[in-house]
Amino acid sequence: MKILVVGGGGREHAICWKLNGEENVEKVYCAPGNAGISKVAECVDIKATDIEKLADFAEENRIDLTVIGPEVPLVMGISDVFKESGLRVFGPDKACSQLEGSKLFSKEFMVRHNIATAKYKEYTDIDKAIEEIDSFGYPVVIKADGLAAGKGVIIPTNREEAIETLNTIMKDRKFGEAGNLVVVEEFLEGVETSILALVDKNTIIAMESSKDHKKVYENETGPNTGGMGTFSPSTIYTDELAEKVYNDVLVKSLEGFKEDGLDYRGILFVGLMITEDGEKVLEYNCRFGDPEIQSILMRLDSSLSEIMMAITEDRLSEIDIKYSKDAATCVIMASGGYPDSYEKGKKISGFEDLDDDIVVFHSGTIKDGNDILTNGGRVLGVCAKAKDVESAAKRVYENIEKISFDGKHYRKDIGIKYE
Ligand code: AMP
Ligand code: GLY
Repeated sequence: MKILVVGGGGREHAICWKLNGEENVEKVYCAPGNAGISKVAECVDIKATDIEKLADFAEENRIDLTVIGPEVPLVMGISDVFKESGLRVFGPDKACSQLEGSKLFSKEFMVRHNIATAKYKEYTDIDKAIEEIDSFGYPVVIKADGLAAGKGVIIPTNREEAIETLNTIMKDRKFGEAGNLVVVEEFLEGVETSILALVDKNTIIAMESSKDHKKVYENETGPNTGGMGTFSPSTIYTDELAEKVYNDVLVKSLEGFKEDGLDYRGILFVGLMITEDGEKVLEYNCRFGDPEIQSILMRLDSSLSEIMMAITEDRLSEIDIKYSKDAATCVIMASGGYPDSYEKGKKISGFEDLDDDIVVFHSGTIKDGNDILTNGGRVLGVCAKAKDVESAAKRVYENIEKISFDGKHYRKDIGIKYE
């Protein structure tokens, strides 16, 4: 079959890399793709948000399955448009994607279905929010309701900062319309982790666990990022926790979809805080986490295309999903300055010096003649697989120095220290 993958980051590179060469997969296209993706798929110059053009391309090229990588097209309703045109698509529809597209929608869903989450209140009136802000205690968590490129959650530590945050989101509209409404919630203390689940109408199955590292610097310091590295399996995600999350979150979510008439098919990403009062859901996302999926797909032995096809036909329960017993570690190389402002267009060198077992997924790169240049905040995911997380991390760190670009930085502790 012919598959079109929508997106152009590390997640989409990992997806295309896995699909490429699978039995039954004749051809993989990626729109828009990036320099690394072009090695495993034919890149098509259409933006991930140009839904009509993507649907036309899928129709004209007789694409059998389109896989939607990022959240923005999902929240815009790309799956609905594809389905209306009779095209098979992997990714939840617009109604379901509100679980990621609106913080309030997801909080209301959790409360309605008795899924543990932080206490919250929503505000459209800034004066009311300021009047009540002290009642949450400090630190307090302030979330812009809509999509804000992963930057819409701010955790002020005192009243002054909280008021400033409310002003930036609700008055100055730092995140545009995403700030029409804010969700304010209690700060949860604990260990943060997440799980990705495969979902169709009748079945929800957790994938192997993967631990993300969101802070930019070692030992979880510095500002939040989209993710600076992962390893799989996660040492935090014990069998006991897996069982609790399955019963208390995943099954309840699936039942909730049915009760609410939501036809959820695709990936459900559940962000969790393990607190003294048990596990609580921080957020839902409606797509694979990145870089979580980079280390998971390094370990997936089964056919990804078969799993995705099964989900579109509500046959997930029939599929036997197998992972390698080996572990995988992925370390992100980022541009100087990231997660704040950074420059693009720096030449990357050293790929040819890497050992054969190292897999590099490109997050933000672009071709320039024979050169590959940086083209985003997160640039590369350097991954390895080995008998355990530390051995895989060792392989990554033995190789990562060989890759050079101006301003590069990466964390030196992924998979090395993970109590
Ligand atoms: P979200 O997009 O809702 O996951 O929020 C982004 C990040 O903010 C999470 O990964 C957490 O690190 C943090 N966060 C969100 N909600 C809370 C909360 N209620 N308590 C503590 N930290 C939170
Ligand atoms: N790595 C976190 C995310 O994909 O949202």
